[in-house]
Amino acid sequence: MKFILYTAAAMAAGVFAGPAAVAGDMERGKALHDTFCTACHSTGVYQRDDRLANTYLEVRQQVERWQGNAQLRWSPYDIESVAEYLSGRFYKIPH
Ligand code: HEC
Repeated sequence: MKFILYTAAAMAAGVFAGPAAVAGDMERGKALHDTFCTACHSTGVYQRDDRLANTYLEVRQQVERWQGNAQLRWSPYDIESVAEYLSGRFYKIPH
């Protein structure tokens, strides 16, 4: 029941990305990002001309890669939350 309610809420919010996807939380994503991900680069790296990520999936892969490099052991929910925050706020990629 909880899952059904959650899924319905995610769909209503327009963030449902498929049956296997975990919907994230942009506010949580911002908090995690601002706490752990600003030591090496500013947000400018997400908006440079030759940026590495150009799709939502690529943004998520980068988040997964960098949290791994920093040994943060983020959950899929954390990764999804930061990916949603970055793609919405900086990459301007619809999800
Ligand atoms: C140890 C330093 C370091 C830390 C910590 C770090 N990054 Fe990065 N990040 C980099 C560098 C350097 C690049 C550029 C890599 C390149 O150009 O190949 C980068 C690139 C990226 C990109 C790709 C930008 C593009 O071109 O599209 C993303 C997304 C990213 N980082 C997210 C994160 C997130 C999320 C975290 C926190 C979990 C994080 N980074 C923590 C060093 C770091």
